[in-house]
Amino acid sequence: MTDAILVEGLQKSFGSNTALAGVDLTVPEGSVLGLLGPNGAGKTTVVRILTTLLQPDGGRAEVAGIDVVNEPDRVRSLIGLTGQYAAVDEYLTGFENLEMVGRLYRLGKRDARTRATELLERFDLTGAADRPAKTYSGGMRRRLDIAASLIARPRVLFLDEPTTGLDPRSRLGMWEFIADLAGGGTTILLTTQYLEEADRLADRMVVIDRGRVIARGTADELKAQVGGQRLEFTVTDAAVLPAMVARLRPLAVDEPHVDEQARRLSIPVSGGAEVLADALRRLDGQTAAVFDVGLRRPDLDDVFLALTGHATEESPGADGVPAEPVPTGGVR
Ligand SMILES: Nc1ncnc2c1ncn2[C@@H]1O[C@H](COP(=O)(O)OP(=O)(O)O)[C@@H](O)[C@H]1O
Ligand SMILES: [Mg+2]
Repeated sequence: MTDAILVEGLQKSFGSNTALAGVDLTVPEGSVLGLLGPNGAGKTTVVRILTTLLQPDGGRAEVAGIDVVNEPDRVRSLIGLTGQYAAVDEYLTGFENLEMVGRLYRLGKRDARTRATELLERFDLTGAADRPAKTYSGGMRRRLDIAASLIARPRVLFLDEPTTGLDPRSRLGMWEFIADLAGGGTTILLTTQYLEEADRLADRMVVIDRGRVIARGTADELKAQVGGQRLEFTVTDAAVLPAMVARLRPLAVDEPHVDEQARRLSIPVSGGAEVLADALRRLDGQTAAVFDVGLRRPDLDDVFLALTGHATEESPGADGVPAEPVPTGGVR
């Protein structure tokens, strides 16, 4: 299997700010790589260098065996990139936009129209096909943008946070579409803040922080690094957390993690449901402030937290923890 994307020792600084401090990664042809990292980690910088929009200071990068610095035009002819807002004309309709991009890619008139119709349908824009793009909502615009990047059926596709800002239904639609493309053999490099997205779509992941790779592997490999089960409590009042930790510490096989802001306690444990029963016994009626309790296996959010020391931007609230739980117990 050859690598569709090869990155070696990639470096980039903006003034005194080091965005990339030597990043190595490869993406085998036909696979999906999830590039994860907190805000400012350097994800977009990697994408911009690979798509020839930015020159690296050091290291090298190839797409389909072609050097991105030496032969940018050849690289551009093989790739698709989201965020090509220049390609979306505000005054043209959705259909006209896609038709135009098809013509720019030298598709025949009939092919360009067929492809435009197909992509509008796929991205749920058929109803808006004849409206000028300037009347589109943010989510519709993003879908049109991604549709445009797919017109020429690129071999390698770069998706920089493709579902950020989409509503949940559009996000699911986008995931299906990305999975279809991957199934059809397109190589994809995907950056995302949504770890569930990476879990579902990516064959392998590279986690970067402050311009360096801090972990890589499959989702299972990354989860295995974090370890076994955890017992999780969400409470309505953060003040009860220290007392809970004290009572539950004997069950912990590793340091409990308290997140005061999310009013959440996570305790690494070993064993199954009996641990949960034991925990409730140990709390001995002190459960008035418990809003949610559960035993769960680590997910990528745990991996991320363990690796970087903080959650992604989007994770608080995204997992069903309300920002302002309604107190159920009295104030004691
Ligand atoms: N054009 C630029 N000028 C100055 N600093 C930049 C520029 N682009 C990115 N940076 C900085 O480089 C670092 C990495 O940014 P970026 O690649 O956008 O991260 P991410 O996409 O992971 O959020 C950040 O510290 C960011 O502020
Ligand atoms: Mg970015």
